Amino acid sequence: MYRIAPSLLSADFACLGEEVRNVVAAGADWIHFDVMDNHYVPNLTVGPLVCEAIRPHTRAPIDVHLMVKPVDRIIPDFAKAGADIITFHPEATEHVDRSLALIRDSGCKAGLVFNPATPLHYLDHVLDRLDLILLMSVNPGFGGQKFIPETLDKLRTVRRRIDEYAERSGRQILLEIDGGVKVDNIAEIARAGADTFVAGSAVFGAASPGDPNRYDSVIAALRNELSTVRR
Ligand code: DX5
Ligand code: ZN
Repeated sequence: MYRIAPSLLSADFACLGEEVRNVVAAGADWIHFDVMDNHYVPNLTVGPLVCEAIRPHTRAPIDVHLMVKPVDRIIPDFAKAGADIITFHPEATEHVDRSLALIRDSGCKAGLVFNPATPLHYLDHVLDRLDLILLMSVNPGFGGQKFIPETLDKLRTVRRRIDEYAERSGRQILLEIDGGVKVDNIAEIARAGADTFVAGSAVFGAASPGDPNRYDSVIAALRNELSTVRR
């Protein structure tokens, strides 16, 4: 029912394979992979080579979040590198429909990402081509920022649209949240309608580096909070 997707942005980049194995063993459902280009966002992270390098370390879906502009050139590279899900920001492409089609034609699930200030009208004519909608609850670029509370209303709005659409079409679209998700707010975020939760600093910032079991307790705590939610 709920998916937890730790963001590698806060992992130890000197041993990413091990981090991926440990976090999946601790109960992570997806691996969230933040791609930044120092152009669309003011930070620079990792590309398809690193995605390909971590691929053999897990069978968990790799959820590639593209914060790059333009997006089309790099989509097939991530598909070849083993991505399962690819999401991008609608402002970062000239042609939203073509970018969605490119993702799906390369065999991946496709999603649109909305910054806190990005209007939801980008959803108007593409629901049939979406597997996932990702709402940013911080401005993209850095891990460890504070959850922006106005996102809760936006989540409720998108939840309604997804539910209406599911009733009409019989298709489910996932609703993912990214930024500032912690043990103390995940239940409230779930109640507002999210079903998939990115958590970077909350998971990889967990205590005692060097202890391979250190992610178990934080992921268990996140799930325990989720188990209290009724929708
Ligand atoms: C922000 C990234 C997020 C980030 C989340 O631009 O898209 O995935 O890593 O990190 P936390 O959970 O620390 O806010
Ligand atoms: Zn992200």
